[in-house]
Amino acid sequence: SFIDQLLDLKQLEVQLSQKLGITNCLVVAGNSDNDRDVVDEMGKLVTNTLKTLLPHGKNVIAAMGGTTMAQIADCLTPEISRNRELLFVPARGGLGERVEIQANNVCARMALCTGGKSRSLYVPEQVSESTYRPLLKEPAIQEVVALIKQSNAVIHSIGTAMHMAHRRSMSKDLVAMLKEKRAVGEAFGYFFDESGRVVYRISRIGIQLEDLASMDCVVAVAGGASKAKAIVSYMNHAPKQTCLITDEGAAKAILKE
Ligand code: BG6
Repeated sequence: SFIDQLLDLKQLEVQLSQKLGITNCLVVAGNSDNDRDVVDEMGKLVTNTLKTLLPHGKNVIAAMGGTTMAQIADCLTPEISRNRELLFVPARGGLGERVEIQANNVCARMALCTGGKSRSLYVPEQVSESTYRPLLKEPAIQEVVALIKQSNAVIHSIGTAMHMAHRRSMSKDLVAMLKEKRAVGEAFGYFFDESGRVVYRISRIGIQLEDLASMDCVVAVAGGASKAKAIVSYMNHAPKQTCLITDEGAAKAILKE
């Protein structure tokens, strides 16, 4: 029955937060690997979580890109803006992916759906230091980078390492290196192996793992059984206050690990 299913999900949430060592896990029914409607269910929980966790007044919310985040953005509602001013900024550059899933676009959608504002960061992640260093000196870019540093909340997803490496068109050598080092997960441009060791990181523009500890609100959204290993690999670094919003498919696969 519906009640039994709800109780099962509640139990998964408790077991999952114990296993991952974070305060909060929320689990929706289904597996987003084969049903994208499940992502919308996760999106509703993101709205509820932001309504609960964000302090009143001004908020600067850093958001990552990706297909999950793009779909979540459209699920946010103006209720989140009650008693709050929201400014969405891309957590990192991340140009180079298809435009709909870039963090800049996710932020614009989030602003549209909540009645907030957004800013864009025009710095690609995949450029050499000698290219991005001078870019960072541009006042328009410095302004957004400063806003990112001031963010009090972050919403992000977690990707599977190989999928992310290919989607970001990383070089053959890099892909080979990630395979050799057994990278399984990616978040914030860091790649992790199964034990959570950072095996590679892309440029240092925007949010870094060490910035997460001081945030009021950290929401990680990742579902689908195929992301189980990726989620576990990142959770070694997730700050305690992280709220993981996931689905039954991922939760059950993680608990089997
Ligand atoms: C990328 C983000 O765009 O999307 C990553 O930069 C994230 O940090 C990834 O892990 C997840 O993508 P998806 O499509 O699996 O939601």
